[in-house]
Amino acid sequence: MPATLAQMKLTILLTGKNGQVGTELLRLLPGIGEVVAPDRHELNLLDADNLRRAVRDIRPQLIVNAAAYTAVDAAETDEANAYAINASAPGVLAKEAKKIGAAIVHYSTDYVFDGSKRAPYDEGDPANPISVYGKTKFAGEQAIRNCDVPHLILRTAWVYSTRGRNFLLTILRLATERQELRIVRDQLGAPTWSREIATSTARILAQVIGRGNRASPFSQVSGTYHMTAGGETTWYDFASTILDEASRLSREISWLSAATGGRPLVTRRIIPITAEEYPTSAARPAYSVLSNSLLTRAFGIRMSDWHTQLRHAFSLECKAQQMTVACKS
Ligand SMILES: NC(=O)c1ccc[n+]([C@@H]2O[C@H](COP(=O)([O-])OP(=O)(O)OC[C@H]3O[C@@H](n4cnc5c(N)ncnc54)[C@H](OP(=O)(O)O)[C@@H]3O)[C@@H](O)[C@H]2O)c1
Repeated sequence: MPATLAQMKLTILLTGKNGQVGTELLRLLPGIGEVVAPDRHELNLLDADNLRRAVRDIRPQLIVNAAAYTAVDAAETDEANAYAINASAPGVLAKEAKKIGAAIVHYSTDYVFDGSKRAPYDEGDPANPISVYGKTKFAGEQAIRNCDVPHLILRTAWVYSTRGRNFLLTILRLATERQELRIVRDQLGAPTWSREIATSTARILAQVIGRGNRASPFSQVSGTYHMTAGGETTWYDFASTILDEASRLSREISWLSAATGGRPLVTRRIIPITAEEYPTSAARPAYSVLSNSLLTRAFGIRMSDWHTQLRHAFSLECKAQQMTVACKS
């Protein structure tokens, strides 16, 4: 009788290990299997042959693709690379996974929607991306679905972390440089902490792998799921909350001066502006709140609301002084 996934020592191929989500996955996935995590230099998603070879050599039971072209504005003028990384590469990984009987976990985005809805988007709502990035990410989803491989496509949104490049760190940096910040208040979404995404992914994987004695438990749950923080906010309110939390914490503990490169926060006022007043190369949906109901029904996972996640991110990571490194880089 063939061994079940729960009995086997699982080999997991993780891409994007240095990204916001990938870094957190690299911490958690070793609890689930043996992780092989090449960086961009060892496995470039632009090189399809290299991808095929890697999957054939490593022969993972599970591929977790956390790599992506995430520069939303740059993608507008760099469509070929964005398409190759976000659409073609996931297709190649999925095709190779299918050949060796592996499953694939892939991340996608709220930017597959056009933002015309005014209630949280469900997985069944039609996608209609309005940016090159959104189009390439949706094409990546489709490429995976078309392969008929067991998959989990996890759509998340407004991802931040205490390292890398993201809105949280940009606001903290700007707050040491400018007395006034002008931040968009007419786009709604749910800022999601990369650690929560990784933790929820690991919980799902442990659950699915531990299920019964089916040889291929991923086929039972194969599909697309929304995985974002609960609640909704605007970039303006998110920025205001970041600075409130930072000011509150700076009175209690001393990490903040290190986190901001030794400079004090000088911002006195945040001015709400419209997206029209802050032109960007890529259009962004005015409303991209996603409903996590399916995630809760399928896996019992309830994502905490965005403000709670932000507080956790601050208290856990910032107290550990990890932002020192992130802000300086
Ligand atoms: N960031 C967001 O706000 C957001 C929102 C919604 C959905 N998502 C999705 O969530 C997932 C994770 O995003 P993230 O924020 O963690 O991304 P991220 O921090 O930008 O990390 C992306 C990772 O992909 C790697 N990568 C890029 N091009 C590559 C290539 N050609 N070959 C190999 N690796 C390559 C990067 O490598 P280097 O470290 O070498 O650069 C990096 O490790 C992605 O699928 C993204 O589309 C993100």
